Amino acid sequence: MVTRLAVKKVFMQTFGCQMNKLDSELALGRLVRAGYCVVRDKSDADVILLNTCSVRQHAEDKVFSHLGALKRLKEKRPGLVVGVLGCMAQKEGRKLAKRFDIVDLVCGPRRIADLVPLLGKCNGSGPVVAVDGDRRSGNRAVSFEADRAVECRPMKHHAYVGVMAGCDNFCSYCVVPYLRGAEVSRPPADIVEEVRRLADDGCVEITLLGQNVNSYGVGLEPKVTLADLLAMLDPIDGIERINFVTSHPKDLTRELCEAVAALPKVCEYLHVPPQSGSDKILGLMKRGYTSKHYREMLTMAREVIPDVEIAGDFIVGFPSETEEDFMRTLSLLKDAEFLNCFVFKYSPRPGTAAAELEDDVPDEVKRERNQRLLQAQEEISLRKRRALIGHTVEALVEGPSKRDASRMTGRTRNNYIVHFESPGNLAGRLVTVRITAATPLAVTGDVVEQ
Ligand code: 5AD
Ligand code: SF4
Repeated sequence: MVTRLAVKKVFMQTFGCQMNKLDSELALGRLVRAGYCVVRDKSDADVILLNTCSVRQHAEDKVFSHLGALKRLKEKRPGLVVGVLGCMAQKEGRKLAKRFDIVDLVCGPRRIADLVPLLGKCNGSGPVVAVDGDRRSGNRAVSFEADRAVECRPMKHHAYVGVMAGCDNFCSYCVVPYLRGAEVSRPPADIVEEVRRLADDGCVEITLLGQNVNSYGVGLEPKVTLADLLAMLDPIDGIERINFVTSHPKDLTRELCEAVAALPKVCEYLHVPPQSGSDKILGLMKRGYTSKHYREMLTMAREVIPDVEIAGDFIVGFPSETEEDFMRTLSLLKDAEFLNCFVFKYSPRPGTAAAELEDDVPDEVKRERNQRLLQAQEEISLRKRRALIGHTVEALVEGPSKRDASRMTGRTRNNYIVHFESPGNLAGRLVTVRITAATPLAVTGDVVEQ
């Protein structure tokens, strides 16, 4: 008699950054190749995986509350396998399984390559824990999967491509270097090969990912920079747009900006987080630049790259941040004229250098500073988008709008979000849109050409 093995259904929920989205995609690709089937509803799943983020306490709290809720689901379905992947798994290790007895698997970001055999070991006889003790081990396994299942991509026309893993910067507030390990760049030939395969599969836009993407190439022989890599990727047929995130201000060179300006497919958009406008705070954060350097970098980038748009991140309420320090941050934000800006309340991360400093800015002050920055950015964001009214822009269509399925959403090369009415699903196509209205987040218009 032939016994047919039931296909296992897996549900993945991803928290945090784009790197996690890529890790989840690669993990699901491996699982699908091993015979699993991906489901969109967790109540259908035999395996529930949470790919987690530790960058702030708030991100961790969200996962804790999801795990609390899964307890009830597991009581109803005892055979259910629950796995915690990613940064929280690395940070908490076995403690996570002790605190939540429903957890069957704890798997750090550098062990996700082993996910299939690890799940095979989850047989109800106690938690399986796979985390890396050594910062220098195993990085290559994560984002550098040579045989990526390109057909498992969530979006047909766009793909994230890991070009480096880990981080060696050790900004004093940041837990990433401890959890994602040492910085390792991927050989350019592997990246070119992967992007060719993605293009053959219908992908028209790629986003190169690295925690510190503009230091790409450090440690590779022969020497190669991000500018060189972009020049190698630009000629690949089928690819229309190339983006890269996230850039560190201290490594944003004129050479890179010249490459962005010269290469037709590389988009005019940079995400270069300043974190603070106060030199005292930047020093304590160990960022390696001053507010003056940051402003000079912006001026250089804008001189070299026509129409470039820049996004930033700030942390408010870092230990010892005074109102005067904060005013310097506000002044930098106003002068920088970012397209978008992400603002975070400082959250002490155990084990980091900043966690040794007293978290002395009260939460209500952090909240108020956060609001003031967001409000100032909202005015800038609206002004920039209103300036497009009456003009036409070219947008690459992403798919139906999240808020209103009757409309489509696309992006310009410099990352303005564009909504428009569309007769059909134009995902992956370039359209020309005449802009008629603007909000701080997006512009809306009518298609004048497909
Ligand atoms: N607290 C608050 N925000 C943080 N970030 C990183 N670490 C912390 C922390 N401990 C922010 C930075 C970074 C973004 C991804 O998250 O602004 O650019
Ligand atoms: Fe964290 Fe700084 Fe590395 Fe970014 S560059 S991941 S903020 S340590």
